[in-house]
Amino acid sequence: MTQTQVTRTLQAVTLVGFAAIASVVIGMLYGGGAAPLQFSDPGPVVRWGQPIVKLVLNLSMATAIGTLVLSAFAGNTEERQRLQPVASWSAALWLAASATYFVLTYLSASGTALSYGPEFSEGLWLFATQIELGSLLAANVVIALIVSLTTMAFTGTRMVAVNAALAAAGLYPLAESGHASSDVGHTIAVNSMLMHLVGISVWVGGLVALYSVFYANSERAGVLVSRYSTLALFAFILVAISGVSSGYIRLYEPSDLLSQYGLMLIGKSVLLIALGLFGALHRLKLVSDFAKRATGFWKLVTLELTVMGLAMGLGTALALTPLPVSDAEFVPPTPAQLLTGDPLPPELTEAAWITVWDPDPLWATIAVLGIAVYLYGVKVLRDRGDKWPLSRTIPWVMGMIVLFYVTNGAPHAYQEYLFSVHMVGHMMLSMLVPVLLVPGAPVTLLSRAQAPRTDGSKGLREWVLWAVHTPYAWFISQPIVAGLNFALSLVMFYYTPLFRWATEEHLGHQWMLVHFLIVGYLFVQSLIGVDPQPHRPGYPIKLMLLIGTMAFHAFFGLGLMNERGLLLADWFGSMGRTWGDDPLADQAIGGAFAWGVGELPTIVITLIVVTQWYRSDIRERKRLDRQADRTGNRELDEYNLMFEQLSKRDQR
Ligand code: HEM
Repeated sequence: MTQTQVTRTLQAVTLVGFAAIASVVIGMLYGGGAAPLQFSDPGPVVRWGQPIVKLVLNLSMATAIGTLVLSAFAGNTEERQRLQPVASWSAALWLAASATYFVLTYLSASGTALSYGPEFSEGLWLFATQIELGSLLAANVVIALIVSLTTMAFTGTRMVAVNAALAAAGLYPLAESGHASSDVGHTIAVNSMLMHLVGISVWVGGLVALYSVFYANSERAGVLVSRYSTLALFAFILVAISGVSSGYIRLYEPSDLLSQYGLMLIGKSVLLIALGLFGALHRLKLVSDFAKRATGFWKLVTLELTVMGLAMGLGTALALTPLPVSDAEFVPPTPAQLLTGDPLPPELTEAAWITVWDPDPLWATIAVLGIAVYLYGVKVLRDRGDKWPLSRTIPWVMGMIVLFYVTNGAPHAYQEYLFSVHMVGHMMLSMLVPVLLVPGAPVTLLSRAQAPRTDGSKGLREWVLWAVHTPYAWFISQPIVAGLNFALSLVMFYYTPLFRWATEEHLGHQWMLVHFLIVGYLFVQSLIGVDPQPHRPGYPIKLMLLIGTMAFHAFFGLGLMNERGLLLADWFGSMGRTWGDDPLADQAIGGAFAWGVGELPTIVITLIVVTQWYRSDIRERKRLDRQADRTGNRELDEYNLMFEQLSKRDQR
């Protein structure tokens, strides 16, 4: 790092750091998060050490992730090298803060005093391996350790992207701990916290990296600033949606807004609005005319870093501030609440399929952004005078709407309680959504709408085209492999501990959603995909694959319908549900759905394959006709000549 860069980095850290420490202290004092505990108080050092160290952890982790994301998506080789020291130093600080926070949380949770005896380290080990909070914090330490090593050792283009993904994975354990760890509204709490931390890291960390390394009035700095500005726009959307949804599930009454926790939330919303205005100013006034307005831009950035510091401090204090008390806490939990954390939804009637919703901010954002970004791509093509068929746009938008419904509507609201509804959601996710998304040809749209980078850096276009051309993509998009993956995943999932993991654990459930969506997409893409793909199997192969899948679905569904035992009996059988079918009958209905709901999209795919086959035949015939017209049917002549010669030879 040059001297200037070191100075700039220290300036950025000072701006964010001091503002953050000031607001975390004020937040802890106001919110009461550092007040002495009634029982086994760990003492002021631990009570104040925890928020301060957590703040350093949040800031250093955000800087490491933001720097790596900026490096992977904005910088060319030389710029990635200049960013590397910021990434590895902040990762090293993250590691130190994370390990310290782990120990402080152990001291606070166990009420034991710090000592150097074997009991203390045994206690720490027990905390890390047997206690959920301890395992989550230990996971964050391990990921920080790996990232601090890999950011030093590997600086190649692809490794920067891998490091960024690895570092971002370090956010998950923190999203799953803290207030989000309570069972009530667990899915919303964890998914919105994850969105919050991802948005904050890219936004705050990216700006610290930009200020530290690219503080200049040059045209090149302007290019990097505009690329960061696009990342910041998405980060702002993520932070706003997740902040509001996280806050919403923690306020039980409107009057809770006037509680300490509520007022700190309002404080954060004000800071977010201020940051949003800075962002708008950047995008509308400064970024577009950067060379002329650079000085103004960097001045505004110093203010922005300070406000971000204030919000980071307040957020960290908020996470350690007692929540408003809800009356529901004193009502004995029902069996469904003991298992899922949430009460049973209302009885499943026809109307309930439309009226009952269980919003998930993460998947709702994915679906809405999936539509918005796609339509923006179509607009870019249209503005350029290029065509993009509605026959692609409409199914894509419908696919995202169905994805929104499956992950936020009745399928999501009932899937934990009723096996049958779980199966409907599963089949819609792995079959119906892909059958609608694949004809949308997203890779083709991206590669046409986004201009290729010419400066050695990689944008979304370059990373997606790289990903679809990797040997791994070549292998898993092989129709046979995709078909086997699709079919066997079903059996592997329901008849192994994976089903219990996906039902009882949040991470397991998210994995299930992503896995079946991707497996379904790859299978449908291999059969009717419009996007470029390495394999082009003949139509007979495609039809055989489809028949095989249909048969498999039928056997799987029939197997479930005739199942004598209940899958996850201690879960679906212990819900205490007083309405609807008994769990075993409900499971059989699930089997029927696997068969029925699974077959419908397969029939649609078969119709599409047959239509494509028919059309390609027509095209082929027209081509042969044109060729015959051009060459006077030379091929037929040669064909006849061959038979003539054969008959002459036979006569001889
Ligand atoms: C509309 C504005 C925002 C709202 C409503 C909001 C709300 C929240 C909520 C509810 C939490 C969880 C606290 C808990 O665990 O109980 C949180 C955590 C956090 N927020 Fe925000 N937030 C907003 C904006 C921001 C912004 C702009 C930043 C920083 C740039 C930020 C930084 C943080 C941090 C660092 C945490 C703590 C994470 C932790 O230590 O667990 N938030 N926020």
